Amino acid sequence: MQRLLVTGGAGFIGSNFVHYMLERYNYHLVVYDALTYAGRIENLAAAKNNANFTFVQGDICDLDSIKSAIQQHKIDTIINFAAETHVDRSIMQPDAVIRTNVNGTWALLEAARELGLTRFHQISTDEVYGQIAEPNRSKEHDVFEPRSPYSASKAGAEHIVYAYHITYGLHTTITRGSNNIGPFHYPEKAVPLFTTNAMDDLPIPIYGDGKQMRDYQYVTDHCEGIDVVLHRGVAGEAYNVGTGVETRNIDMAHKILDLLGKPHSLIEYVKDRAGHDRRYALDTSKLRALGWQSQHTFDQALEKTVRWYIDNPGWWRPIKSGEYRDYYHKQYAERQS
Ligand code: NAD
Ligand code: DAU
Repeated sequence: MQRLLVTGGAGFIGSNFVHYMLERYNYHLVVYDALTYAGRIENLAAAKNNANFTFVQGDICDLDSIKSAIQQHKIDTIINFAAETHVDRSIMQPDAVIRTNVNGTWALLEAARELGLTRFHQISTDEVYGQIAEPNRSKEHDVFEPRSPYSASKAGAEHIVYAYHITYGLHTTITRGSNNIGPFHYPEKAVPLFTTNAMDDLPIPIYGDGKQMRDYQYVTDHCEGIDVVLHRGVAGEAYNVGTGVETRNIDMAHKILDLLGKPHSLIEYVKDRAGHDRRYALDTSKLRALGWQSQHTFDQALEKTVRWYIDNPGWWRPIKSGEYRDYYHKQYAERQS
């Protein structure tokens, strides 16, 4: 593993992963990204002048374009972050998630197979297990019960990855991460949305009763988990990555308001997400057995994240005034009714 194609590397986790890897290894990283609304070239500004970094604009559904990037840059490993990632958008417009998350993953696998790549790593999600009743935790061999177009597309992608391992002998691994928070997180997702709204004294929209639970992990902890699996994971295997600690959305919102010194009256309960998963919870013992452990508690992760949004209005303000505004009105006007 020397020359990595990092698909979706201009997005939230992908860009954090690029910075993480460039700091630690002498690998060449080629980011391959379509630059959708969620892909921001500015997320990669700090890597721009690094001799170990190249950017290629391309779609993961375009097999010829993927193959030409692999050949031109002598890629030996693919790490697939590219996806349509927002559950609410997947409910409004399911075709895009199926196209990118299922067809796109297939095209990457096919390119890897045809060109004889040595490694393929798929970034997946704890959502493939579906909602988990307390006190249970999902283990890697549990059945998949995805319930949204997004989670179903990610589960579908995983099955194709596994099929390419079994059928064609491709050396694949998969990580299933819980909710990430940190720098460069597009403000359609709960933590950056709540933070940036609160900074502007705008309402914080809580879906349903706000008692849904998520395992919020700091993005570099997730990157470290992927790094460990890339280097020490077993071919054909999947690994959960998360803190193992769940927080209710309403408690997370109150903490953000406290960190910002804003009134709790900004909280506004709105119509729930269709098919909203109540709780995700991971058993991470398989990854911990490889020597990984989460470095941040929820409070530390949230504090660092909120601090980043306070310090970087130049990143999120332009986003919130563009395409985002139309999306926001459509998404939240429906919830008010
Ligand atoms: P993101 O939405 O911030 O970024 C997605 C990136 O993929 C963008 O740069 C976008 O331009 C690119 N992309 C989208 N469609 C593409 C296409 N057809 N071809 C090429 N590039 C395309 O996403 P994220 O939150 O960083 O998530 C990255 C990965 O991690 C995804 O696979 C997601 O399912 C998974 N994941 C995310 C989380 C989370 O909390 N954000 C948790 C677990 C797993
Ligand atoms: O669990 C991993 C997943 O986490 C990833 O696979 C997804 O790509 C990522 O988007 C994230 O999905 P969620 O749906 O959990 O994240 P989101 O930030 O959209 O929502 C977190 C919780 O907050 C969820 O229970 C819904 C709720 N929520 C969200 C928004 C945007 C609200 O109450 N209000 C909101 O406005």
